[in-house]
Amino acid sequence: MKHIISPTDLTVSELNELLELSEEIITDPKKFTDVCRGKKLATLFYEPSTRTRLSFEAAMLNLGGNILGFSSADSSSAAKGESVADTIRVISSYADICAIRHPKEGAPLVASNYSSIPVINAGDGGHNHPTQTFTDLLTIKNLKGRLNNLIVGFCGDLKFGRTVHSLIHALARYENIKFMLISPEELRIPNYIREELIAGNIPFEEIRCLDDTIADLDILYMTRVQRERFFNEEDYIRLKDIYILDNKKMAKANKDMIVLHPLPRVNEISPEVDEDPRAVYFKQAEFGVYVRMALIMKLLEVKANA
Ligand code: CP
Repeated sequence: MKHIISPTDLTVSELNELLELSEEIITDPKKFTDVCRGKKLATLFYEPSTRTRLSFEAAMLNLGGNILGFSSADSSSAAKGESVADTIRVISSYADICAIRHPKEGAPLVASNYSSIPVINAGDGGHNHPTQTFTDLLTIKNLKGRLNNLIVGFCGDLKFGRTVHSLIHALARYENIKFMLISPEELRIPNYIREELIAGNIPFEEIRCLDDTIADLDILYMTRVQRERFFNEEDYIRLKDIYILDNKKMAKANKDMIVLHPLPRVNEISPEVDEDPRAVYFKQAEFGVYVRMALIMKLLEVKANA
């Protein structure tokens, strides 16, 4: 049985298969309407979510399966002190697969150690968010036609942004990728990621100014400053609007650069940018359903209808 705790739990070849299956689903969704009949997905969300939880649930429903779960720690027995280990032991007898989001880094890994069903990390603290990464990769592959030969700019909160950490790990396995890491000093990538990039000989630059590099990018990955991970409100207020992507900045970018954002957005992308055809973040959120359908199928080892 396979669990998905980190984006690199899939080999590059498995990941490419997942993306191919996602694209088959996009092309002919009717072929997949019944493949999970009789199966149940549990969504165990100890932290707020709109896209991840609902796209997981939509994915299972699209496959003909059923869903159960909770959307906050308060509405589960975690509020009475139950451990993740005990919860997953119980859920293992109620469902066939589960997606878990938790504010503590490593909680989904702990769950996987006690689970008899596949566990998918749906975001753990400031650590990883593998299914957002699969969504991002599907978006890049579908819209740019490749996952290699790319200059990728990450902008904003690179310290706490788990989607950034996961996508860097995943893209670093493809050829000729360069990362432009755009953030203030306080929100630079964690040391362990910097050390991994250096050890892997992956080209990257850490800079402060988006204007200095936007013209070089194939992909601009904007991120929200993660208020919920800050230790004090003063720092958050000082940093929250440090980058705002607007039409003036977009005018400096290549005509085929695409703008991704895992969402939710706060102020970091001005709504005027939404009308620019290079702004693909809502399309990206839609792709999240297809890639999660493909992932559920792979983990439950079910195939498309003939
Ligand atoms: N991208 C993402 O994880 O969004 P939610 O927090 O709404 O699930």
